[in-house]
Amino acid sequence: MSIRYGGDYNPEQWPEEVWAEDMRLMREAGVGFVTVGVFSWGIIERTEGVFEFGWLDRVLDLLHENGISVDLATGTASPPQWLTTNYPEVLPVTGDGIRQWPGSRQHYCPSSPIYRQKAAILAGKLAERYAKHPAVIMWHINNEYACHTAECYCDISAAAFRTWLIDKYGDIDSLNDAWTATFWSQHFTSFDQVLPPRSTPAPGNPTQRLDFREFSSDELLACFRAEKEAVRDHEFELPVTTNFIGVFKPLDYWKWAPELDVISNDSYPDPLESGSAMDAAMAGDLMRSLGAGRPWLLMEQAPGYVNWRETNGTKPGAMMRALSIQAVSRGADGINFFQWRQSRGGLEKFHSGMVPHSGTDSRIWRNVLQLGVDLDRLASVEGSRSTAQVAIVLDWANWWAAEGDGHQIRLDFHANLLDWYRPFYEANIAVDFVHPDAELAGYRLVLAPHLYLLSAHTAGRLAAYVAQGGDLVVTYFTGHVDEHDNAHLGGYLAALQPVLGLSIDDFAALPPEGPNARIAVASDDWGDLGGEQWSEYTKVIDAVVLARFAEGDVSGCPAITRNSFGRGRAWYLGTKPDADSLEKVFGTICRAAGIKRVLDDVPLGVEAARRGDYFFLVNQTASPVEVNTSGYDLLTQRELGVVALGAYGCAVLRRLDGDEVSGNSLSNSAIGVRA
Ligand code: GLA
Repeated sequence: MSIRYGGDYNPEQWPEEVWAEDMRLMREAGVGFVTVGVFSWGIIERTEGVFEFGWLDRVLDLLHENGISVDLATGTASPPQWLTTNYPEVLPVTGDGIRQWPGSRQHYCPSSPIYRQKAAILAGKLAERYAKHPAVIMWHINNEYACHTAECYCDISAAAFRTWLIDKYGDIDSLNDAWTATFWSQHFTSFDQVLPPRSTPAPGNPTQRLDFREFSSDELLACFRAEKEAVRDHEFELPVTTNFIGVFKPLDYWKWAPELDVISNDSYPDPLESGSAMDAAMAGDLMRSLGAGRPWLLMEQAPGYVNWRETNGTKPGAMMRALSIQAVSRGADGINFFQWRQSRGGLEKFHSGMVPHSGTDSRIWRNVLQLGVDLDRLASVEGSRSTAQVAIVLDWANWWAAEGDGHQIRLDFHANLLDWYRPFYEANIAVDFVHPDAELAGYRLVLAPHLYLLSAHTAGRLAAYVAQGGDLVVTYFTGHVDEHDNAHLGGYLAALQPVLGLSIDDFAALPPEGPNARIAVASDDWGDLGGEQWSEYTKVIDAVVLARFAEGDVSGCPAITRNSFGRGRAWYLGTKPDADSLEKVFGTICRAAGIKRVLDDVPLGVEAARRGDYFFLVNQTASPVEVNTSGYDLLTQRELGVVALGAYGCAVLRRLDGDEVSGNSLSNSAIGVRA
């Protein structure tokens, strides 16, 4: 058993003399896993159809001799010069009609048949040659799909979009209906007239934009599939992955995830931004959920700074360690960096690497050695799983549509998702993410924020969950429209009206800042609360009103309600409670639903997470804290009476022979949200 440790290894950037030193240092650091060849297309196939594998043979042999396993990349994320010279139509085109140039990376149109064909040939050649190589244990298709080129608006993409639309709608009148093409004379008489949502004088058709987003995610998935199939023509057993990018808008990862044998993620929280650890935790929870609870890999993180923000602060060593242990606590069975050796030249030369420019007498290298020791001590954690009582519904189509044009507010879906996640994170309540149509029966509490697009099918599933005894929390910006982004008539919330016991008559958006950004909300249970972003004119059917707007024209309208439906309860928030208010409201909801923390009495800023028999404590603050619990700590290899954590300190406590970790910490009593 082991937690895999390593990083992206790009030996082609270095003379071969350096490789021997790489091997020695990898062994010293306990590195046993590297990703090779992510950007090697132009080195392997310098000329179209001529493949030079000699250097890669030597690299893989050397790694194997040194006991290091390889995640072999297909190398297709950066097309070589010959591809764009010989086939310039492969280059992507922006919505303004500008064809992009080679000279960076990911400069390919996702719908390009030539790109797909040439990428698949390379993937197949690699699989054919290295299928039986003893170092290779995993295939890494492409790299961070959509990181730079999520969409292409060229004529090839336009034709592919039409094919996708014909498949979806069958006939042009169905498309006209779904897109409400009577509006602004947008009506089509043939699919030949349909275009991608290219740059227009005013914002374009929202359903066209929504379809194009889904199409673009699907086209990149088709690229992934083409490469995977080419690999599978030669090799059938090794797991296949591609690296995801956290909570990432362009790709519907629910569609992608079932096609990956191992979910892997790249994580680059900003060390200068407080709250970025929470974002990383949320991404980790999403990765575990995408794999239906299976362990995943942290495929990339930076040991120190990145080089692509305006200001690139660095991670103190303890913070890097804490973020690594955090990933393990959320289900990662591997911790890897971009990249092994910091590049000497090129755009990323000031992006940190495990072996920095300054060499091994360095802070980064000492941190890398320490992490190798830590991960070795966590070997027994490998494979263990987590369970959660709470699920948050995340739906990419909703993300795309809710952030589209023509709404009352500019909703920042990711920021709001973080705000809804925060009370659970701060209270150390384990959370899974789920697709709206997922099986919900195993969860005590389901939070469905901003299901703006609400189909009858999804509403029916949520209703069934409540009817069978679940607690469902629905927020504003839900059920305004159907799956084609056309309004639900007769009071928003549509089929959720009977579940929530209310309907929405009209909206009253709040500005993002200024004196009117906060609206007073009055309640008996929680006293005075504050709401942000949204208020509305709500009509109660039979819900219990828990809080009402207390100012403005909506004064007196329900802001927070609860309704009994079947054997369960449905809660509704018609505004975004500010941080303090949200904590109070969610405290009540969690208590009602019988939700338990991972550990009680954990100070704010310390994450507590559980995998199987292991309890992780990660201090994400620079202040030392004590946690009143005890147990055997895998990291210090000591029995601890009280867990003292320094700045960004971590402990991983093992439950012994059926004993709970001692102390009051595992009483698992029903909670108030914060300790
Ligand atoms: C991404 C890419 C890597 C590298 C890093 C830099 O994660 O996959 O190739 O560019 O960003 O942070």
